[in-house]
Parts: sequence; structure tokens; C-alpha cells
Amino acid sequence: MTDGWRQIGETVALVPTMGCLHHGHMSLVELAGESAERVVVSVYVNPTQFGADEDFEEYPRAFDTDRRRLSRAGVDVMFAPTTEEMYPFGQQRMTRISVPGLSRILCGDDRPDHFDGVTSVVGRLFNIVQPDVAVFGQKDYQQLVIIRRMVADLHLPVRIVAGPTYREADGLALSSRNRYLTGSERPLAPALHRTLCDCRDRLLAGERHFERLESDGMAALTAAGFRPDYFAIRRAGDLSRPAPDSEYLVVLAAARLGAARLIDNVLIEPAQAARVAALK
Ligand code: PAJ
Repeated sequence: MTDGWRQIGETVALVPTMGCLHHGHMSLVELAGESAERVVVSVYVNPTQFGADEDFEEYPRAFDTDRRRLSRAGVDVMFAPTTEEMYPFGQQRMTRISVPGLSRILCGDDRPDHFDGVTSVVGRLFNIVQPDVAVFGQKDYQQLVIIRRMVADLHLPVRIVAGPTYREADGLALSSRNRYLTGSERPLAPALHRTLCDCRDRLLAGERHFERLESDGMAALTAAGFRPDYFAIRRAGDLSRPAPDSEYLVVLAAARLGAARLIDNVLIEPAQAARVAALK
């Protein structure tokens, strides 16, 4: 697909998506344009990353709107394969790409096959498109860490670029699944980001009792009307449990509000901690 470009020395960036594009996706497309000469956006609702009781059938699809939006943004190719093209030997017999450990914690605890589906489809997309760069959102932080691990472990010749989380003015991270929120649930939803930020502020102020911070986070989400799945403080690099002197941290949460399952995270970097210390 991209041979011609590569033969004349042009670089290619890929943005994998499941379509129904919003500003968050489009911010990654922009980043892709800054990272390479050609931009390919894949639009494919990947069945292998949905559990049997999940929303594969209901997942929103907006092919024509997506196509217009990508063409207006100057994207070179919108790659929208069929399931027969992606999995020519069928979903049951497909060759799986699995990143054990990382894929079974946090979101993978509840959704045991989800990340195997993600790595299995992203590996295929990389092989088909052969990008120099692939852009992923920090919004799905665990997914980003798993893709980075897959690329390192399989020696794939692709550079992973992470884009910041695009948010509504009230802090809610944009997500295709936000449409599952009812009118009365929508005003409650920003509490997820606020709770993560509260935890970040306490960490930046020097608190290191991780268990207490995590249980306070769970309690705050419950009080705000969520049914939280997890609220966790982890090392940003590999999602392992941090030590009190760990510097790069990420606070991640998944919580249900009505029919919607929302995820979000915030990063804590040493530079922020230094700025807070300087203000004291
Ligand atoms: P999807 O949920 O469509 O997301 C596509 C990309 O957009 C992901 O890298 C995701 O992290 C990013 N994204 C989503 N919301 C964002 C926001 N508010 N700000 C910035 N980036 C955001 O993630 C998937 O699809 C799939 O798992 C996929 C990788 C395509 C494999 O099927």
C-alpha cells in the first residue's frame, strides 16, 4: 500500500482507529502529519478485542462522516479493511499476538482477551501499512504501554508516538463511548478526571501512602455516582507497582457510569514535582 511512497523516500505515519472520529482522534491525525510526510488512518471496528458480552454490535460506526473528515484534514489514505481481509483464516484460527502480564492487569483483569485482540490487530495493521511512525493516544495508557512493549519485543521497525488526551472544557476525555451517557449522567462524568487530578496533586505534594491514595480514589468515585473497576497508581514505564522513590508515575482509573465504562489517567513527571517543590 505504501511501497511507492517509500521507494521515493517519503515517510509514512499510521493512526489506527475504530472510527466514529472525534477531536481526540483528529489531534492524533495532526500529530501524524507533523511526524511523517504521508498519513494513513485505519478505520476498523476490530471484533477480536470485544468480549462476548461487550458492545461490538452497538459500537458507533460513521463511515461516510469519517471519510469526509479525513479527506478535509488532508489524510492520504483512509484504510477501512473488512474482517475477511484482516483475518483471512477466521477469527478462531487467527495467529495471535499476546503480551502476557501487561495484558492481564488493570483493564485486562476484567477484559481478559481485550488486549490480545488489540495487539493482534495492530500487528496486522503495521504489517499491511508498514509505517515508519504510528500514533496512539495517551488516553488509553495501558494500550500504549502494551503496544510499545510489543514493538520492542518483536523488533518492529516502527516508532511509537503518543498524543496527549483531548478533553472537553469540563475535563471529560473525549471517547466514542461517551455517547452511552444519559443527560443526567453527563454532568457527573468529569468527576473521573477530577479524582485523578486530586490524587496527582497529593502525590506531587509528597504523599507516598499509595494504598490509602488508591482507596480514597475508589471512595471518591463511588461517592460521585460511579461503579469503579480500579483506581491505581503505577510506574509510567511498565505499569508495575511503584516504590516510594519512583519518579515517573501514572494514576489510572476505569469506572462505570450507567451503561458507559469510562477510562482515564494522569501522568506525574519529576519536572512537575520539582515545580511544586519550588512553589512551597
Ligand atoms: P479508538 O478507541 O478508536 O482510538 C483510536 C486512537 O485514538 C487510540 O490511540 C486512542 O488512544 C486515541 N484516543 C481516543 N480518545 C482520545 C482522546 N480523547 N484524546 C487523544 N487520543 C484519543 O484504541 C482503539 O481505537 C483501538 O484499540 C485500536 C488501537 C484502533 C485497535 O483496534
